[in-house]
Formats: sequence, C-alpha cells, structure tokens
Amino acid sequence: MNYKFLFSEQQLGAVELPHRIVMAPLTRSRATQPGDIPNDMNAEYYGQRVSAALIIAEATYILPQGKGYAFTPGIYSQDQIDGWKKVTDTVHQKGGRIFLQLWHVGRVSHSSLQAEGVLPVAPSAIAVTEGQAFTEQGMIDFETPRALETDEIPGIVEAYRQAAINAKAAGFDGVEIHAANGYLLEQFLKEGTNKRTDRYGGNFENRSRIVLEVTKAVTDVWGGDRVGIRLSPTGTFNSMTESEPQALYNYLVEQLNPFNLAYIHIVERFGIAKDADDNGFDFAKLRQLFNGAYIANGGYTGEAAEQSLVADESDLVAFGVPFIANPDFPERIKQNAELNAPDFDTFYGGDAKGYTDYPSL
Ligand code: PHB
Repeated sequence: MNYKFLFSEQQLGAVELPHRIVMAPLTRSRATQPGDIPNDMNAEYYGQRVSAALIIAEATYILPQGKGYAFTPGIYSQDQIDGWKKVTDTVHQKGGRIFLQLWHVGRVSHSSLQAEGVLPVAPSAIAVTEGQAFTEQGMIDFETPRALETDEIPGIVEAYRQAAINAKAAGFDGVEIHAANGYLLEQFLKEGTNKRTDRYGGNFENRSRIVLEVTKAVTDVWGGDRVGIRLSPTGTFNSMTESEPQALYNYLVEQLNPFNLAYIHIVERFGIAKDADDNGFDFAKLRQLFNGAYIANGGYTGEAAEQSLVADESDLVAFGVPFIANPDFPERIKQNAELNAPDFDTFYGGDAKGYTDYPSL
C-alpha cells in the first residue's frame, strides 16, 4: 500500500509534525522506586521511538492521590521533573516531539497505593466492579472510594495546573489531559459514576464542569495550541456507563472549542476489541463539531489509518501496542515490513526485557 496521506506533514496546534503516525500513551510501570521517578531506561525507550510524529508519553499522575498503579511515574516532585527532563532531552536530541499525559485515576486505585492508606477518591462512592487494582503486593480487589467534597475540587484543578507547570519545566512540547478510560475526569463525565447533586453532577453542564476547569487551568499554562485532550465516549473500561454518549460528548466538544486546543484524541475502541462497544456512535460528528485536529485511536492498522485519512475521517492516527513491539513502527509501515509480535507478559512492570529490547529493522 502507498501511504501518501499517512506520510504527509501536519500542523498540530503550535507543533509541526513530519507525518500522521502518533505514539499513543502506554502505561509500562517502570519508574524508579521509591518516588515513581522516570529513569535512564525510560529515556532510552522513548528515544528509540522518536520516529513517531508525536510521542504522547505514558499516563503520569499529577499528585499522590491520583496514583492508581504500582511503578507508574508522577509529575509533582522535583526528582520526577528531573527524571522526565532526561526523557525529553533524549527525545529532542534525536529530533522527536513529546507531550506528557496528565492523569488522576480517581477510584481506579487502592488504599495501599495512597498516602497513609486512605481510600481513593471519586465523584461518588461507587466502586469499580470488574478487574482488580495493580498494587506492589499484586492484584487486589477495588474498594469503594470516598466521594469528593465540593470544596476539594478546586484543589484537584490546581494540581493539574501545577502538573502542567512541572511538565513545562521538564521540557515537554505540550500536554494531553487524560479524560478517558474510566479515570477521574471520565468518572465525572459519565452518569454511572457521577451521582452528585452539587454543581459537578447532574446535567451535561455540571458533569463537564471539572473537565472544563482543568482545561482552563492547563491552557493558562501552555496556551491551547500545545494542549490536547483524550476522550473515550463509548468506552466501558473500568466499569463505565453512559446512556447518552453522543449528546454528552457533542456538548463537551463544543464547550472545549473556546480553548483552541491542538487536538482531541479519541479512543474509538479500547485495544483491539474492534467495535465491541461503539454502538453506532458518530465519531465524525465530534470531528465536525471540534475546531482542532482529530486523532483517531483504537486497533488501527497502517491500511486502516491511511483509509481513515483518505476518507477525511481523521487528521492523525495514534497507535499503542504496535509501538510497544516496534520502536521503528512508522518505517515498518512505510516499507510494508513485518511487525514484531508484542509480548503481553512484559507490558506492565519489569526491566529492559519487553521494553527496550525489541529490534528495529
Ligand atoms: C492501564 O494501565 O491499563 C491503563 C492506563 C491508562 C489508560 C488505560 C489503561 O488510559
């Protein structure tokens, strides 16, 4: 196949990209302990992947309360900022571009991952019902979280602002707000997890409020043209439910427009479970309503990505698993080369095995 569109240049907000293949954020749980600090091995891993048009670095928690998985990195301590600086320096020396994904997991945590063993927080006291928490002691059942008080929410918004400031100090080219996949911001957006009766719950306006406040705080720091947001309107990962996803996300995207964000990054399907839960959702409608770029994500092949661009359904396409196993994924697409097979057992945690040892062509 001739990937004419995939390998055409694209302006993404303030950032010029040489092509349209984005590396999706990927949790790999390999930060240095104690302190969840990015390290030289992480820098090597991202440095191997600089041929992505844009690297969106793994979900990174903005304050201790936002941590949900063992060994994931943070962006609130000076050591973490210094660790990330090694990553961004390596990526920039090799000619790449890298955004940081800002994360608060909300209820998808466990008291053993929280300071002083307190319960995780969420919009409402409703537990995740499937899966288990990934802790330093192994997999453990989720607990019922504590519902946030209204007057705690400004502090969380400020933590996003500080994380955005820290990401700048760490040398990133921009940031992505993680409002997808069942984490805190999506817990506010979707009705199954938000039973609040204050101004952060109820109608679309109220459920969207914290996302828009976070977007305001983060764009105050970076300007809209170096900020994107990740959304998963149809996602059910982490026990999420929403009966009116189209109306909710149409509303949200229109409210995001005044911030002039660089992009929306849409998880159209989670992982490779193609169309498992899309229920006829009209993604084109979101793209049409939004005034920035549309990054499509979810089980795309090179061919499917090219077709999506040709059909004018997206502006860029983000790939996750292919970038785990293929540091030179864009070159392999261009050459129609074989792809390395991913080793699922080494996705989360561990050392260089299954991390920095996948071969390039
Ligand atoms: C995960 O660690 O499984 C994970 C993290 C962030 C996501 C999705 C999955 O957005």
